[in-house]
Amino acid sequence: MNLVVVSNRVSRASANEPMTGGLAAALLPVVEKSGAIWVGSSGRVRDGAQKEPFAEIETLGAGALAMLDLPAAHYAGYYEGFANSALWPALHSRSDLIRSSHEDYKSYREVNSFMARALLRFRKPDTVFWIQDYHFLALGAELRDLGVTHPIGFFLHTPWPTRAIFGGVPNHRELVEAMLAYDLIGFQTDDDRNNFLSYVENDLGLDIAGGVVASRFGMSRCAVFPIGIDPARFAAHAAKAASHPDVSRLRRSLNGEKLAIGVDRVDYSKGLVNRLTAFDRMLTLQPQLKRTVSLLQIATLSRGTIEAYGDLQNQLAKLVSDINGRHGEVDWTPIRYLNKGFSQTVLAGLYRTAHVGLVTPLNDGMNLVAKEYVAAQNPVDPGVLVLSKFAGAANELDAALLVNPHDIDGMARTIATAFSMPLPERRMRWEAMMARLRAGTIQDWFSDFVEALQDAHAAGAKATGDHPPEDPPMVWPTRSFSAIVGNRFH
Ligand code: G6P
Repeated sequence: MNLVVVSNRVSRASANEPMTGGLAAALLPVVEKSGAIWVGSSGRVRDGAQKEPFAEIETLGAGALAMLDLPAAHYAGYYEGFANSALWPALHSRSDLIRSSHEDYKSYREVNSFMARALLRFRKPDTVFWIQDYHFLALGAELRDLGVTHPIGFFLHTPWPTRAIFGGVPNHRELVEAMLAYDLIGFQTDDDRNNFLSYVENDLGLDIAGGVVASRFGMSRCAVFPIGIDPARFAAHAAKAASHPDVSRLRRSLNGEKLAIGVDRVDYSKGLVNRLTAFDRMLTLQPQLKRTVSLLQIATLSRGTIEAYGDLQNQLAKLVSDINGRHGEVDWTPIRYLNKGFSQTVLAGLYRTAHVGLVTPLNDGMNLVAKEYVAAQNPVDPGVLVLSKFAGAANELDAALLVNPHDIDGMARTIATAFSMPLPERRMRWEAMMARLRAGTIQDWFSDFVEALQDAHAAGAKATGDHPPEDPPMVWPTRSFSAIVGNRFH
């Protein structure tokens, strides 16, 4: 089996370089080991009609990483436009933030179709395609229209909203119909899958018995695969990072204070305003906590050219300075607010230094920070996770202190409780959460999905009596590509 993994953002970074975004960071170690080809955007664009998509290809573990220059005329409409100003807000139940034109949708489809054409280059008779996330909802349909009969799976890293909310996305019907080209559609939680199936049943009028949907493309199976992490690897990073200068400086700077940590992209789905407001409220309600606790909020800037993101950046900067101004003392600042990223190793060390982890999104597919915070703790003196019940991770990490991020007073009280939790309770909760992390690692997620995809494809092909035709010869293998990976893919 030759696996081709596709996502908009890819990662070539090692554990020592800053990472952006949960998806790329999560996939890197497993894709690296699997020998898959990982195809995504280079982050650069290229003008004009490209006869052959330009890809920079390098080795990645036992496989390869292919970074494509996407078409200049369509990139903004695809990425800032439809993907991040129509789909992202809707998938996170923020229809009020949808800003999208018909041109954006056209660009989104153009980029999906461009990617499909680019992928033909990697097709071999035993190729399995695995498409990631909302940037490529229609990629499976584009591949099918090019005659690809191989297994094609899709995994959504974000939530899937209720049918009324998804119905607010321009061209929603066409998109869901296109998604049925996938043999397997994977979701993070039961709620996400049920919302999707409810749309398919009620809005498309299709039968959803057993989570299998028949469409003009054949059978499509919908199932749940909660993404995990590699807890042992993260724990090892955390122990190793103790001596890293950033980590030891942070420890020294605490002067006996207890630290809470938050690590997020600046995104309205992450509930940052509510979190900071709850921290503020806690200091107001319990002024004796001043000088004894503080918050380190790492907030990496993201999608800044989109108005909703730019506005949020300004709002957060103002809120932090307002809170620090009101509560701060000459020798104490309540909130340290950093707009920069850290490597996974340093992050693991920072998590281990913090007594409380704050993961309080308004809506989140999974949220791997929650899992990483837990895995990074010192087993003999673990910290406490405060987790939003609206993060996918709350299904597994129900031994965290679960909060409603809209209830500011409730969150303020829970954060104070977390700071003062006695050791036996911290250990009990931590051990329960670690057991869940070990029971569903990123390696399990990866292999379970690929296996289910092959099964779904085999079952679908049987049901429709469809036997894959002989494959055409590979198209345009390039010298640079074969020079790096030998003739493995020819
Ligand atoms: C989320 C999405 C990913 C995305 C990441 C970072 O985790 O599910 O697909 O890569 O955010 O966002 P960005 O737009 O910077 O790639």
